[in-house]
Amino acid sequence: MTEYLVRHGGVARAIHWVHTVATMALFYTGIALYTPGTNFLVGGPGGLAVSTVVHRVAAVAFIGAPILGILLRPQGLTHMLKALLKPWDRQDWLWMKKFVPHLFAARKVHLPPHSGEIKAGQRLASLGIIAFSVVIVVTGFLLWFDGNVPPGAVRWAGLLHDVAMIFLGALLMGHIYLGAGIFQPLRGMVWTMFGNGKISYRDAVYNWPKWAEDQASAQGLQKRKMT
Ligand code: HEM
Ligand code: HEM
Repeated sequence: MTEYLVRHGGVARAIHWVHTVATMALFYTGIALYTPGTNFLVGGPGGLAVSTVVHRVAAVAFIGAPILGILLRPQGLTHMLKALLKPWDRQDWLWMKKFVPHLFAARKVHLPPHSGEIKAGQRLASLGIIAFSVVIVVTGFLLWFDGNVPPGAVRWAGLLHDVAMIFLGALLMGHIYLGAGIFQPLRGMVWTMFGNGKISYRDAVYNWPKWAEDQASAQGLQKRKMT
């Protein structure tokens, strides 16, 4: 029988769900505000006014979901930040060197095992996603309350908001390609965030050998089937 480990708990999964839906709405309406020609889907009879409202409602969810998550389970944030900020060792650099060749020839080029909970490249990308999300939130507030902000700062906020969107968008494309399991070796990963939070022990050992070993004893290896 296949054995499974829990990779992500309910609070993390719920935040990630809300955040993903909010991000999609923000990208769609943000692009509609930037290039109104693309506004046909959410614009409707209300035109850009509707996009503006949807953008702000989604912005509240984008900010509110992680804040609620931190209040409900503060140790989740410390755990994630600790894993993401783990200093790079020799294995991490080796892993990074092999990552691009592995993406194009996964059968021939295998990644070296690493000791952490989150792989080197993913740590870098996730820190980037968090940093650009912070920039987008701060500049978004300056744009929202532009009446109380000097005009020069509003212009800078507008520019930074758009630049952050481009970088966040690029990082998210990679995040989704790998996280959704479009990249074959990571098939099954998606359910750790969008399903029941579990991953098969075999895939866990392949991806994070040390984490899998530690968690196998900590979790007493759950033997229930994926639902
Ligand atoms: C994934 C996140 C986000 C993306 C991709 C995004 C994208 C965009 C884009 C492309 C624009 C048009 C800017 C222009 O015309 O140059 C815009 C405008 C705006 N954004 Fe965002 N945004 C995001 C998050 C946020 C957040 C979190 C807030 C609020 C805290 C926010 C508030 C605003 C405001 C106030 C405007 C000006 C238009 C309006 O009055 O609604 N955005 N956004
Ligand atoms: C369809 C869209 C998405 C998919 C398929 C996806 C997939 C995943 C998966 C599978 C994980 C767990 C990775 C692991 O356990 O090692 C994860 C973690 C994470 N995701 Fe996403 N995600 C999506 C959208 C987003 C969005 C929109 C954001 C933020 C704006 C985001 C930010 C994060 C962060 C911060 C983590 C935790 C850190 C990490 O494990 O790297 N994700 N995602």
